[in-house]
Amino acid sequence: STETRRHGPRVFGPQEIAAAADVLRGGGLLAFPTETVYGLGADATDGRAVARIFAAKGRPAFNPLIVHVVDKAAAEAFAVFDAAADDLAMRFWPGPLTLVLPLRDDHELSPLVTAGLETVAVRVPASPLARDLLGRVGRPVAAPSANPSGRVSATRAIHVIEGLGDRIDGVLDGGACRVGLESTILRTAPLALLREGGLAAEEIEAALGHVLTRDVTPGKVQAPGQLSSHYAPGRPVRLSVTDRDPDAALLGFGLVAGDLTLSAQGDLVEAAANLFDHLHAIDRLAGAAGKTRIDVAPIPEKGLGRAINDRLRRAAAPRAPKG
Ligand code: TXA
Ligand code: MG
Repeated sequence: STETRRHGPRVFGPQEIAAAADVLRGGGLLAFPTETVYGLGADATDGRAVARIFAAKGRPAFNPLIVHVVDKAAAEAFAVFDAAADDLAMRFWPGPLTLVLPLRDDHELSPLVTAGLETVAVRVPASPLARDLLGRVGRPVAAPSANPSGRVSATRAIHVIEGLGDRIDGVLDGGACRVGLESTILRTAPLALLREGGLAAEEIEAALGHVLTRDVTPGKVQAPGQLSSHYAPGRPVRLSVTDRDPDAALLGFGLVAGDLTLSAQGDLVEAAANLFDHLHAIDRLAGAAGKTRIDVAPIPEKGLGRAINDRLRRAAAPRAPKG
């Protein structure tokens, strides 16, 4: 037959987790939920599978991936933990913290995962579904956020399907992500915060008893994914807006009520959980209403507000032309 059919990814419910794990064990691409955002997973030891992640996202090969494991013992097979890393892992894993650690000489990860660096970013997610999946796969899983490179991250299965469609093999649908912001990234030697994220820097600072050094200059190679234009919706974004403009859809916060509001109570945890879903939704809403821009209310620069503002600044940054 000449009939053409679009194949979406296979959608697995939580009861089908064994079949979802088989996709990863067989060298396929599976999007799966963590408590932060959906990840686009592949077996980190399988170079062909990892190469498909870069192709599906349109991600530059110099931008390394986070490796997900079920527990610290599994990470010790490829990463070196010093006393500081042991302490941070003990306090914050499982959870929304990624540690950048030296690679072991005898690691079996595909070199594509680390983009040739001598360090590896490791994460033990807290989401029960993610942990069940990682336990069943029994191998480290490389997973960037499950969105096309430069676009808004996915916090629901439908975002993944809309963004990546038939470029991937499956999606494990675990509903909306609880935290809603990507993990906080810390390098341990020398200690520095590389990306603000779902674990507030203040919590890490309270545990360590000192202020963290930040190495989060956009575009600098410390965390190569920290390119300045990122998380971009389909139209221009303007920040810290308190007045309604007829040409713009307004994303509200606190007393500034918008077409959609991140948190009417001004709760930063709620705002973080809503951020990417509302960015996806307000873009659609603006399109339907013929608005040319997205305006966003001011968000306080404290706690999770730092990571929210980081993502919003990147969403508002001028874009590199798409090639
Ligand atoms: O919450 C998260 O972290 C999600 C979920 C799926 O785990 N993942 C995620 O991945 O946000 P991605 O690829 O969107 O961001 C990973 C970041 C990038 O900025 C990358 O450059 C950085 O981690 N990274 C990875 N390996 C690194 C390394 N060895 N040194 C410094 N930065 C690294
Ligand atoms: Mg990302």
